[in-house]
Amino acid sequence: MPGQISDIDRMPRGGPDASCVDRLLETDRPEYLDREDVDPAVKRSVIAALDWTGRVFGNHDQFARIVLDEVADVPDPRILELGAGHGALSATLLAQHPTARLTVTDIAPESVAAMTAGDLGHHPRAQVRTMDATAIDAADGEFALAVFALSFHHLPPALAAKVLAEGTRVADKLLIIDLPRPPSALHLLRLATMLPLAPFIPFVHDGVISSLRCYSPSAMRALAAHAGVTVDVRTGLMSPQITVATRR
Ligand SMILES: C[S@@+](CC[C@H](N)C(=O)[O-])C[C@H]1O[C@@H](n2cnc3c(N)ncnc32)[C@H](O)[C@@H]1O
Repeated sequence: MPGQISDIDRMPRGGPDASCVDRLLETDRPEYLDREDVDPAVKRSVIAALDWTGRVFGNHDQFARIVLDEVADVPDPRILELGAGHGALSATLLAQHPTARLTVTDIAPESVAAMTAGDLGHHPRAQVRTMDATAIDAADGEFALAVFALSFHHLPPALAAKVLAEGTRVADKLLIIDLPRPPSALHLLRLATMLPLAPFIPFVHDGVISSLRCYSPSAMRALAAHAGVTVDVRTGLMSPQITVATRR
């Protein structure tokens, strides 16, 4: 089948048709957020910086608008947020939609504990839970929409394909919002602006690795073919890459 490769974990992040240069612009190095051997305070600083940039640059509102567009026709939608981190997207959705119910989840127990202790933990339309996006503890079709924001690139291809399969099993639509993978020349420029600060600022360290690990549209289509789902991918140079996955 076109787009399908036999060993999905060997697929470049730029997709089966990635250029030679693009194939060099990737890494197996984990982000601080993915490591067990990192001081929890470092991970908290990365999550706090994501929340701060989301507020200052409007990502939380932008992502909420994308989610709400996808459920515009669904009355009282049940929404699952995977990899919620700080939980600000779910909090924005609850504030902007009067009847949406949110299940707010992350694989990291420390993030789940922080969200449970905050406003989300007491919101009447929210439930905060620990959940692995590759093995979702929910019934088939339980949600109108599952959303995974700025998190998909954390997963290597075989696990990323599992998220596509699992997200579309439990929800009518899986929305993946992630960094766009730029053409190689621009990608080098993006990395060059971040690299000098990466050894000193954990958020920038994780940003460099995120940039090297984000999936191109052709990679998303190959992952979808592997998972047996349909995807619609919209990408741009300055805008987030938006993928909507549905069951076949
Ligand atoms: C870069 S943060 C993004 C946080 C937030 N969604 C945002 O947009 O700022 C990535 C999040 O994905 C979570 N994550 C990584 N692997 C995961 C998995 N398999 N299942 C669920 N969450 C995962 C991490 O714990 C982390 O909170």
